[in-house]
Amino acid sequence: MLAPMAGVSDLPFRLISRSFGASLAFTEMIDVRAISHRDKRTRKMLMTSPEDRPLGVQLLAADEKYIAGALDVLAEHNFDLLDFNAACPTPKVTRKGKGAALLREPRKLGAILKILVDCAKVPVTVKIRTGWDADSINAREVALYAEDAGISALFIHGRTKIQGYSGTVDYKNIKEVKDVLKIPVIASGDNLSLSLIKRMFDVTACDGVAVARGALGNPWIFREAIRFFQDGVHVTGPTADERIAVIRKHLDLVIKYSGEERGIGIFRKFFVWYTKGLRGIKPLRDKAFRTSKKDQFLDIIEELHRFETRHPSTS
Ligand SMILES: Cc1cc2nc3c(=O)[nH]c(=O)nc-3n(C[C@H](O)[C@H](O)[C@H](O)COP(=O)(O)O)c2cc1C
Repeated sequence: MLAPMAGVSDLPFRLISRSFGASLAFTEMIDVRAISHRDKRTRKMLMTSPEDRPLGVQLLAADEKYIAGALDVLAEHNFDLLDFNAACPTPKVTRKGKGAALLREPRKLGAILKILVDCAKVPVTVKIRTGWDADSINAREVALYAEDAGISALFIHGRTKIQGYSGTVDYKNIKEVKDVLKIPVIASGDNLSLSLIKRMFDVTACDGVAVARGALGNPWIFREAIRFFQDGVHVTGPTADERIAVIRKHLDLVIKYSGEERGIGIFRKFFVWYTKGLRGIKPLRDKAFRTSKKDQFLDIIEELHRFETRHPSTS
């Protein structure tokens, strides 16, 4: 499945990922307070479409205060599940007692999850990390509190809060969590290629994997993994034409949902990801950063034909 990513897992990127087989996707994390206040930016983050299913909304909260209000608003949106974020390591978030800060208070996290489970009309899941730091690895304890609260599945990123997004993934700890829970465990952390995804399944015996950075500029990773696990087939990366068609489609979708100027602003980072590793790409990227016009951007995408035979993942 596609992991939640703030600033990334918006509706267009979810649709692109789903077109290659991502079986479940999430909104970016959204603060319950902002949802309950029907904040404008938040409404945009809740934007979805009929093909964008099944979809989870990821919630951020320090306590139960705005949960009921947020659930009232969310009831109007018809989502498939609610995921609670106890994993975000950003100081701006943890300073307020949210995200990974709740790993230090497993009992409190359990109480918040219980309220969510009791009030929500859809399944509730939680996303955790292995612990706050290397000296306080407590994912098993946290996971047991969460399971007790009645959640339906648990997502675990196999790093501590202090590790952020670097350092090695603790496969052993994910396995320990998997061994102790009855509910499904979905593993996250360095699921960057088919071989790493395979390793995650083999070592942890997890029930599913969430792909995050591995899908940036490479939504084909879902097709590659699904074909391998379902049919035992190793598919090669996309052809040059397919890659360029998908980049165009992604641009079309961001413009459809955000308008030309804003859409192109959003799309630039995706363009950088799609063109990662291409030698001599800088002048084209610079051009992409200077234009706010769809026609010009499409011409820039066309120019990728000059590079495509040299793309690392098609060689
Ligand atoms: C740009 C970015 C934004 C992220 N935002 C969220 C988020 O909003 N909620 C969340 O639970 N995890 C978030 N994550 C964490 C990912 O879901 C994932 O657990 C983590 O990146 C580890 O997977 P990876 O090593 O395969 O990238 C984010 C990761 C990245 C790179």
